[in-house]
Amino acid sequence: MADTHDNLHIVMLPWLAFGHMMPYMELAKWIAGKGHRISFLAAPRNIDRLPKPPPDLAPLISFVRLPLPAVEHLPEGAEATSDLPYDKVPYLKKAYDMLQDPVAQFLESSDPDWIMYDFAPYWVGEIASRLGIRSVSFAILNAASLGFLGPMWVSKGGDYRKTPEDFTIFPTSPKWVPFPTKVAFRHFEIKKIFDAIMGDASGISDTYRFRAGQESCDIIALRSSYELEPEWLSVLKDMQGKPVFPIGQLPPSDPETRGETDSWQSIKESLDARKKGTVVYVAFGSEAKPSQTELGLELSVLPFFWALKTQVRAADTELVVLPDGFEERVKGHSMVCKSWVPQLKILAHDSVAEFLTHAEWSSVVEALSFGRALILFTFLADQGLNAKLLEERQIGYPIPRNESDGSVMRHSVAESLRLVMVEEEERLYREKAKEMRPIFGDKGIQERYVNNLLNYFQEHRLVKHQKTAGISK
Ligand SMILES: *[C@@H]1O[C@H](CO)[C@@H](O)[C@H](O)[C@H]1NC(C)=O
Repeated sequence: MADTHDNLHIVMLPWLAFGHMMPYMELAKWIAGKGHRISFLAAPRNIDRLPKPPPDLAPLISFVRLPLPAVEHLPEGAEATSDLPYDKVPYLKKAYDMLQDPVAQFLESSDPDWIMYDFAPYWVGEIASRLGIRSVSFAILNAASLGFLGPMWVSKGGDYRKTPEDFTIFPTSPKWVPFPTKVAFRHFEIKKIFDAIMGDASGISDTYRFRAGQESCDIIALRSSYELEPEWLSVLKDMQGKPVFPIGQLPPSDPETRGETDSWQSIKESLDARKKGTVVYVAFGSEAKPSQTELGLELSVLPFFWALKTQVRAADTELVVLPDGFEERVKGHSMVCKSWVPQLKILAHDSVAEFLTHAEWSSVVEALSFGRALILFTFLADQGLNAKLLEERQIGYPIPRNESDGSVMRHSVAESLRLVMVEEEERLYREKAKEMRPIFGDKGIQERYVNNLLNYFQEHRLVKHQKTAGISK
């Protein structure tokens, strides 16, 4: 542990989505583990819903409650994307943008050394530099996704990307990418998120937020590693002209403490009863909604464990309904679980061979840290870009779909699961996933990335008299 005068105070400002707050929290725990102080800024109900840090780190991580202002069309009490239907998320961004004053006040009174911020608060870099605080734009995206989004000029103007098709260009790489790549959206993926990308009811597009936030920061950090995507990391460095820090894949560090009781016991028993390497684990996260006609019936050909959220978002009224008698029919070999399940423990179990996933990066990290083969079925956001990166590396197998509307051909879900499980030709996908295990799960590799970032933080912190000089300029 460093001397006390070397200890840093670092502020974290993640976006209001648990898929963002969780990796921020993971990094916060690593940093606190090195003796530095963290102020974690989040809306009050989100703080209450986040897992508590372990007791030895808790004194170093303070949660700072930032109540959201009321905004028209934003339901009362909604503080995270999972509290809202997709089309209401822009109002959450609008409320978030109104936090500029409280955040500035907090920074001024607490005087941290560094602030790490997400894509949404693109405005905080400027506030930080005015106050003499160093800043990091910390994206939870990988380098391929950020690299695909491109440099600032792409969103500031010009004709480069105007229609959904412009985001699907393949086989041509974007001009700033000096190698051939498949990384791009598919038509049905970009159609769903085109509004958010181009500018939604919050008034500011997501791509603008990313790039403006990266323009005003001192350094850029992202959830990536040289072991996985060195070429994309150099694209980012060339593109941004400022230091770029991959901070590792941030696999979850704690064994999950929730669900320790009956639910895990019965899940474990049913997994124990299956042969090693035969079960498909199926889960699409907390915000994606599969249609049972696409998946349910087809799944019945293999033993599976389906963690099914029937109500996907809090405001969702259309519940996912399984076909009549489905659960009864598959009971002999499979299991559908509609309550919360300990995903890490399931993925760690030897009976599990494959993970049918929406390709959200946290889920990918969890599965690959146990070397499980990935079958990809994307829904939203950056999932399409993640899937293409995994497909290109032959780490993940994409379920064939109609490029234009995303529908699956009959039998192609079951067929994909079977191919990757047993066929000789698809052996590569199973082996590659196993090779990824150290890259995604090794604590030593993760620690090196954290140390590297912290060394930079130490060396480039502003000392008091520099700060005063900076402000009076
Ligand atoms: C793909 O979807 C589009 C739009 O729904 C449809 O017109 C087209 O026929 C489909 N293609 C195939 C091969 O099914």
